[in-house]
Amino acid sequence: MNKDYSSYFQLPNQKDAARRSRTPADIRREPLVISTELRRFAHGKTYRIQTFGCQANERDGETLAGILESIGYVPVVEPAIPDVWLLNTCAIRENAEQRVFGLIGAAKQHKRTHPDMIFGVCGCMPQEEHVVLRLLERYPHVDLIFGTHNIPRLPQFLHDAYFNKERIVEVESTEGVVFEDLPVRRDHTKKAWVNIIYGCDKFCTYCIVPYTRGKERSRLPQDILEEVRELHAQGYQEITLLGQNVNAYGKDLVSPYPFASLLRDVAEVGIPRVRFMTSHPWDFSQEMVDTLAQYKNLMPAVHLPVQSGDDDILRRMGRRYTAQSYLALYHSLRLALPQGSITTDIIVGFPGETEEQFNHTLALVEQCQFDAAYTFLYSPREGTPAAKMVDDVPLEVKKARFQRLTKVVATAAHQRNQAYLQRIVPVLVEGPSKRNPSILSGYSDTNKLVNFKGDPATIGTIVPVKITAIKSWTLEGEMVHE
Ligand code: 5AD
Ligand code: SF4
Repeated sequence: MNKDYSSYFQLPNQKDAARRSRTPADIRREPLVISTELRRFAHGKTYRIQTFGCQANERDGETLAGILESIGYVPVVEPAIPDVWLLNTCAIRENAEQRVFGLIGAAKQHKRTHPDMIFGVCGCMPQEEHVVLRLLERYPHVDLIFGTHNIPRLPQFLHDAYFNKERIVEVESTEGVVFEDLPVRRDHTKKAWVNIIYGCDKFCTYCIVPYTRGKERSRLPQDILEEVRELHAQGYQEITLLGQNVNAYGKDLVSPYPFASLLRDVAEVGIPRVRFMTSHPWDFSQEMVDTLAQYKNLMPAVHLPVQSGDDDILRRMGRRYTAQSYLALYHSLRLALPQGSITTDIIVGFPGETEEQFNHTLALVEQCQFDAAYTFLYSPREGTPAAKMVDDVPLEVKKARFQRLTKVVATAAHQRNQAYLQRIVPVLVEGPSKRNPSILSGYSDTNKLVNFKGDPATIGTIVPVKITAIKSWTLEGEMVHE
């Protein structure tokens, strides 16, 4: 390998982060460039996209599918081997990456039997230098390697791979732009993701996202509202406004337009259910809390990652709040949305976490009674400040803490679910339950999975369901006629 790829990987450091411009995002509205040659060649060929990780990746997967279908590809009928196979990857933790490397290794066999297949790795993992170097050195059967900022160039990559027999590596470490008007093939017909802000400038010390997804850049309100109106006209019942931190929305716009204003304007379009994620506690304004309480179609379900209940750990994580200020926000949300749900993320085993500090996290979880908490073992990410911190806590200790935490979380979740017994909740019916086709399943306004007896003709609509039983993580009930 004689090409110098080093220029792709100038990861921003804390100093660069401080210098990240607050200027409005560069918005691109360029049409996709698809060569006639590629269109002819690809017509009717098949594709498969496997997406890992967060909702931002899911939404990117829909754009990748939209681009491939604009070229002329069609989804592969499983389990056939597709003509184009993309792994849309996640870099948040080591185990997510290991899993993808396993799949990349396994794909070698498929490349042997289907040498014309184009196999690509995209998403967040290629935004990391060590991943690209490993792919280049050890996995010659990967034809395309491209990052989160390079998605609109997919037609060009395919053209070059087919007709010039090139191996493509394109990973920009730019702060990122906003691409409007890219094609999208949505996974659902009743629920949709709507990006409102890309990237993240919080630089929590353990997190790779500000490096893989670039700086915070808001879409223009009119572009978001136009998309929401279109979804409304198409009969969508639920949308989720997406951002690594939605609360930072609008801070980089020329005219001040905070997230609370966007929420209000989106709610007024009239889609029955509006959700948003994720919220960093730092930017959560009282105006947002009030707005949530005011509009019936803003769903009373807030995901509010706390990460730790200890002030020293929170400070070393760079989270910008204390356990006490988190609790104040938590209680104001509970007050405003008494029947709502609050969920969180928690990291166990941050470098140097003592028993006492971990106990502070347990105490906070006990006090809060989260509806659900996603718990993670800390995973060092190359290039982040936490990866350089001294960590003297043995893995066994971390795992034992993790077990203790998940027990407390499960007990709280179960208790919160008890309050649903005999209550009637609105459920957006998604389809027959995976385990039992005579049972329907869907999500309540508070985002609880509900399995219930009902009429399949109601799929795609919102129906009242009386909750009759509580399982560990789901509710059971019967559709009622009000
Ligand atoms: N190790 C473990 N968990 C992490 N998260 C983010 N980075 C890491 C890491 N390095 C968790 C946080 C975040 C969620 C999406 O993933 O809890 O909120
Ligand atoms: Fe990562 Fe979220 Fe912190 Fe941004 S706010 S750095 S995405 S944990």
